[in-house]
Amino acid sequence: MLTSKQGIEQVWTIRRATEADSGEVSSFQQSLNRPQRSDSICSEYFLAEVDGELVGCAAVRLKEQTGYLYGLVVSKRWRRRGIGYALTDRRLDWLRGTRASSAFVLSMFWNIRFFKRHGFELADRRKKRDLGSLHQDFTDKWSARSVLLVVDLGRPSSPPL
Ligand SMILES: CC(C)(COP(=O)(O)OP(=O)(O)OC[C@H]1O[C@@H](n2cnc3c(N)ncnc32)[C@H](O)[C@@H]1OP(=O)(O)O)[C@@H](O)C(=O)NCCC(=O)NCCS
Repeated sequence: MLTSKQGIEQVWTIRRATEADSGEVSSFQQSLNRPQRSDSICSEYFLAEVDGELVGCAAVRLKEQTGYLYGLVVSKRWRRRGIGYALTDRRLDWLRGTRASSAFVLSMFWNIRFFKRHGFELADRRKKRDLGSLHQDFTDKWSARSVLLVVDLGRPSSPPL
């Protein structure tokens, strides 16, 4: 059994997805009523598993020096145990190992506090236009309702609660 950064028992593991996980990731997201994305690449996902069962997933894309986090969802019975935090931490760690200088995320307003714990801040919403070549989320209609957040990858995030 591992111990998480929060000092609690951590029963999940996180790994990179492969194309072979594509069906499972897609059904997992559908089962949790996540919108079907027009742009989603399975190998960009990290998967959180408990005894081989998928309990959470989240993706990260890199283009030049810009990262984009998308596709985060945790199964209802496994929420509020730090899995979402760990999946986000893992994606930011991965980006820090690349030449990315900043990362963006589109968040509903009730998740802003969640991302702020990783150092994200409100970004100028007009920036969405420039990010269309990074991911189709930025041009798809639903994203108009989301808040654009950005983190400078040179800056350390706050420790988890
Ligand atoms: C958003 C989401 C991914 C968070 O996943 P999660 O695994 O519950 O995330 P965490 O456990 O890391 O953190 C969630 C909350 O639980 C708290 N928490 C973490 N570990 C905890 C523990 N052991 N005991 C009690 N609370 C805990 C965190 O402090 C956090 O609190 P906050 O919401 O007040 O900031 C999840 O709620 C979800 O799947 N929502 C639906 C999809 C969605 O909104 N995705 C985001 C798209 S941008």
